[in-house]
Amino acid sequence: MLTIQSNISLKPYNTFGIDALSRYFIEINAEEDLQTLYQLAELQRLDKLILGGGSNIVLTQDFGGLTIKISIKGIEQIREDNAHVWLKVGAGESWHGLVLHCVERGYGGIENLALIPGTVGAAPIQNIGAYGVELKDTFQELCAVEVATGQKLVFSKTDCQFGYRDSIFKQHAKERYFITSVTLRLNKTPVFRTEYGDIQKTLEQMGVKEPSIRAISEAVIKIRRSKLPDPAELGNAGSFFKNPEILKIDHAALQTDYPEMPSYPIDTTTVKIPAGWLIEQCGWKGKRLGNVGVHARQALVLVNYGGGTGLEIRQLSEKIQQSVQARFGIKLQPEVNFV
Ligand code: FAD
Ligand code: EPU
Repeated sequence: MLTIQSNISLKPYNTFGIDALSRYFIEINAEEDLQTLYQLAELQRLDKLILGGGSNIVLTQDFGGLTIKISIKGIEQIREDNAHVWLKVGAGESWHGLVLHCVERGYGGIENLALIPGTVGAAPIQNIGAYGVELKDTFQELCAVEVATGQKLVFSKTDCQFGYRDSIFKQHAKERYFITSVTLRLNKTPVFRTEYGDIQKTLEQMGVKEPSIRAISEAVIKIRRSKLPDPAELGNAGSFFKNPEILKIDHAALQTDYPEMPSYPIDTTTVKIPAGWLIEQCGWKGKRLGNVGVHARQALVLVNYGGGTGLEIRQLSEKIQQSVQARFGIKLQPEVNFV
């Protein structure tokens, strides 16, 4: 039985804590519910907003259509061989819950992605990543339903065209599919990735001599808690912008004026610059404009101190983009999805 609610506040459904209304709202607990939705002709003409955990969206206005929260659950082991297990996971499962499930069973591959908020179904949208690992490294395929027709489809890794915080679901396939499940292939013999950021240092501080999946997930959780605000305490959506990728020669030219500008090599011609550094250099770190601001410990995270609107967040983000563009000639691209 599908229950359609009207005029509900989306405040509890987005980690920025923005109080925008949705004209209609429905929660989908099983794939069959989506099929039922297609039989309700009056719903077909409505605009649709697909929602997971709401941890990567900015609601800039009330939404006049139907918000569809995907809560399809289930973690099923569908295959196993000597080296791997394949888990087919409902789109509405919590991503971090899945990481803990794998850590418990000794399945390796996603421990570096511990504590990323949101759902499993949204993970492919921007190919979530952290601490040297991305979703694409374990991704096998996903099942989806086409929004326009209700037709079921399967997307392979190649189909998804994963990139840095990118996939077809942020490009030409944007808002065209409900992702209903994601299948990952995990390692029975883990390959530890400890070279990134502070993982090694944190493991040492924790007194860990031999790394394990559990120890790495705990180190990542520790680092993340020290750097990123908890949305339960301070509204935010993680990194607001992507870290820009620029040509090495442009970076070298910028270093004449900014010799301390950090960078990470991508390939022989391109480097990635931490957007947090650029934003901090422009004096934004810790700044507050009305109800919103730039986090005091991480300049890449915009925050809602309470009562902030999506428009205030957007305006702040545009001001930041303008100052980074004016000072460094670099255009910051939002990582978050504006609604
Ligand atoms: P939502 O915000 O609900 O949706 C995001 C987009 O996906 C929307 O466009 C929505 O329409 C679409 N969507 C959601 N579910 C589905 C579905 N089932 N089918 C089709 N479309 C769908 N991200 C990282 O990559 N790395 C990090 O380290 C990281 N750290 C974060 C830390 C904090 C504190 C926060 C708040 C966010 C962080 N994020 C990070 C961003 C965010 O957690 C991820 O983008 C996450 O995958 C979003 O999941 P969600 O379910 O909340 O998606
Ligand atoms: N920095 C500053 N000032 C700041 C913040 C950062 O100078 O206020 C510089 C420092 O040089 C620092 C560097 O930026 O060493 C990198 O900062 P950090 O390690 O905090 O990582 P990040 O680049 O800001 C990225 C991802 C995160 C991910 C972490 C760990 C993007 C856009 N962000 O952040 O992902 O968790 O690395 O891998 O790629 C997200 O996508 O929402 C997200 C949180």
